[in-house]
Amino acid sequence: MTRTRTWSADPQPAVSDRLRQRLEAQLAARGIAPGAGRSLPADLAPAPLPALEAAQLRIPADYRDAVADHPAVAAWVRAITGSATAPYAGDRHAHYGRPGRLEIRNGPSLLLWGPTGTGKTRQAFGAIRSLTAAGCAVRWHAVKAADLYGQMRSQNTDTEAVLQHAMRIPLLVLDDLGAAKTTAWNEDITFRLLAWRGENHLPTLVTTNLPPTPQPGAGMRQELRTAVGDRILSRLSGMCTAVELSGPDRRYSHR
Ligand SMILES: Nc1ncnc2c1ncn2[C@@H]1O[C@H](COP(=O)(O)OP(=O)(O)OP(=O)(O)O)[C@@H](O)[C@H]1O
Ligand SMILES: [Mg+2]
Repeated sequence: MTRTRTWSADPQPAVSDRLRQRLEAQLAARGIAPGAGRSLPADLAPAPLPALEAAQLRIPADYRDAVADHPAVAAWVRAITGSATAPYAGDRHAHYGRPGRLEIRNGPSLLLWGPTGTGKTRQAFGAIRSLTAAGCAVRWHAVKAADLYGQMRSQNTDTEAVLQHAMRIPLLVLDDLGAAKTTAWNEDITFRLLAWRGENHLPTLVTTNLPPTPQPGAGMRQELRTAVGDRILSRLSGMCTAVELSGPDRRYSHR
């Protein structure tokens, strides 16, 4: 892994306060954002942002108000937005302004690791929301590794098509890597997926409970290497910045 960072105050949010207010106002105006039932007077209502609405509906209910407020995740969002291109520059587009819509092509990848309930998946969906709010045309797919294997195994499924979709989508969130039982077949799928994305510099956010490097005092605690094997860990090391999320399990403090 290139480096491991720990939590600290972030002076620069992933999206500006103005942008966030606009985002929240648009969602609230449509009754999409949880707990935001306000509607704005017609003359104050911001222009519609269909991509954001569409993204919001695909995000699990628990994470629809997620914000990428971890400094490393916010920095990753900025890096991706910074490298997005506007291939249709010159076109006028009501929602995205004069330069045309920004599109994500290439960018760095991120590995969020840490104990259960520390907010890894929430940060991942926060990143998707931030990127969409920043005006990027984000074709994204978020899937738990175990679900991906399950989808590919289900009957009457074009296994290769499911894998190719995950391989080529501009932005992939691969959640809970290493949580499924390790089999040679799972390993082969994960290897093909990450090797392709790494070689093509396609931004990928991976989450896992398992440490990517040996941890002092971890004893017999399982490492990512044991779960996914050397070749996959090597790809992850080459493409991802590893970021540890620590702290209590937030699911307990929710109730
Ligand atoms: N910053 C936060 N503010 C409010 N709620 C949060 C925050 N971070 C996480 N949560 C909530 O805590 C719960 C656990 O978060 P999340 O699912 O992201 O954890 P996780 O690290 O992905 O856990 P696991 O390793 O088990 O998948 C969720 O209900 C989530 O919405
Ligand atoms: Mg999770």
